[in-house]
Amino acid sequence: MAKKFQTLKGFYDVLPERQSLWRHFEEKILYILDQYHYQEIGLPLVEPTGLFVESVGSNTDIVEKEMYSWEDHLNRDKLTLRPEGTAGCVRAVIENSLTYNGPVKLFYRGSMFRHENVQKGRQRQFHQVGVEAFGLENPEADAEQILLLARLWNLLGLKSITLELNSIGDPNDRIIYRKKLIAYFEDNKKVLDDDALRRLYDNPLRILDSKNKQMQTMLNSAPKLLDFISKEAKQHFDSLCNILEEHNLEFKINTRLVRGLDYYNRTVFEWVSKDLGSQGTIAGGGRYDYLVERIGGNPTFACGFAIGIERIILLLEDLKIENNDVIPDAYIVNQGKGAKPFAFSVAENLRNEGLKVSLNIEGSSFKSQMKKADKSGAKVALIIGDQEAENKIIQVKLIRNDGIQETVDEKKLSLFIKDKINYEK
Ligand code: HAM
Repeated sequence: MAKKFQTLKGFYDVLPERQSLWRHFEEKILYILDQYHYQEIGLPLVEPTGLFVESVGSNTDIVEKEMYSWEDHLNRDKLTLRPEGTAGCVRAVIENSLTYNGPVKLFYRGSMFRHENVQKGRQRQFHQVGVEAFGLENPEADAEQILLLARLWNLLGLKSITLELNSIGDPNDRIIYRKKLIAYFEDNKKVLDDDALRRLYDNPLRILDSKNKQMQTMLNSAPKLLDFISKEAKQHFDSLCNILEEHNLEFKINTRLVRGLDYYNRTVFEWVSKDLGSQGTIAGGGRYDYLVERIGGNPTFACGFAIGIERIILLLEDLKIENNDVIPDAYIVNQGKGAKPFAFSVAENLRNEGLKVSLNIEGSSFKSQMKKADKSGAKVALIIGDQEAENKIIQVKLIRNDGIQETVDEKKLSLFIKDKINYEK
């Protein structure tokens, strides 16, 4: 017996019946990104491993244990399947001098790969829409991105989603804070779990993100980074909060929010849904004004975020969204040797006229083909036998309209169908 294969753990197929939700999401996000004038950039799935080590940071979970990395045996290049999109986008901006003429606002979409523990809302291959603005220092840039997301949730009809916001200041602010935090954790060493002990000297800020219940009281009393940030960083944060308030956007300042990637400074934020259990963050991002320079570009202000599409799809599944499946305008039923090539040409000609046409190719019985026409949702069935082929005519059955049937000349067919289905381009 031939060996059967299955998807790898954490990887999955998106079956046709789920695609309508994906399309629904894509339609809405693309519409909103157009409204804010973000432009799409296509980026490779594979990048040099060093790019992620330098940008995401060597002490992060992603770089330490979640990357799909390998050495290309042909040329010894060290390569990685992208675990996130910001690093590649920054590389592309530098490589193509995209900020040469001033600020740019970009977005990308596609698969990301992280070797994580799999659970609901957490896969090893997942999809993001990522949005990045380069060359913009003012808090209006951060505010615009956050409001863009609020607009998206509204348009999608998603409820019970909250915004958590924080400022982690600039790198210099963190030097003093880091020392204070380590000292505080050393005083509370007995309460720290293994993960926290491991991170104590490498990445103590990440301990603040811990969900361990036993550590929460201790973490709530830890020194707050927001109390240590510079006057400029504080002003930036206050202005951002003011803009959001002026636009009636509710948010919670979460002084323990630091995010899991190393490139951030100042603004960090996450949008969290209550309906997804432990993997409730549906979008996250912030400012990263030092990253472009760190990987070889000129100093460039930057901020951005990414949306986890699978998590949005889980939320959309609970809303009873009207099924947007693509349905053909016409389904062609055909039988007979002469009918086949004629039916094939009719299908191609109708597509030339802009119609969506499903042609029965497998050639089952007339009854079974009519059943398929009905099931496809097509608005009309076109019936072609040898006689029709000979006379270049088609029997058009209005299957959604009492099954009325008319004989139509091939030349008049597309106009006839368009008229019957109220076709609009
Ligand atoms: P991130 O927080 O690592 O940020 O990921 C963004 C979003 O991707 C998460 O909030 C979540 O919805 C989704 N996500 C992450 N990991 C998984 C997973 N294993 N399975 C399913 N969904 C997942 C970034 O990636 C940054 N590049 C965002 C950014 C852009 N910051 C600035 N610009």
